[in-house]
Amino acid sequence: MTWTKMCDANSLNDGDLVSFNYGDTNRKLLIARINGKVYATDGICTHAYAELSNGFLNEEEKTVTCPLHLSAFDLQSGVPKNAPAEIPLKTYQAKEEADGVYVLLE
Ligand code: FES
Repeated sequence: MTWTKMCDANSLNDGDLVSFNYGDTNRKLLIARINGKVYATDGICTHAYAELSNGFLNEEEKTVTCPLHLSAFDLQSGVPKNAPAEIPLKTYQAKEEADGVYVLLE
């Protein structure tokens, strides 16, 4: 496991939902920032193919809602809160330091 820098710290603001490609397979990671805390999950919905960075962030509930069929996922646990998605999103530890936003990747 390695802490991998995804972007500069000052490039993310509260309320942002951003997609990053990572790894050899070009997988997508979603990073959200709420009240100065960053969350990282897989970037593609577990139901069908939709980019969650095109979805909707609920800062109060700390969820992201898929833009295609509107399942909402808890950003901390990845668990879907409503149908049709049933499979949790993979989540990752994330942190913001003075020099950047880091995600713990395999
Ligand atoms: S593709 Fe996300 S809920 Fe269907």
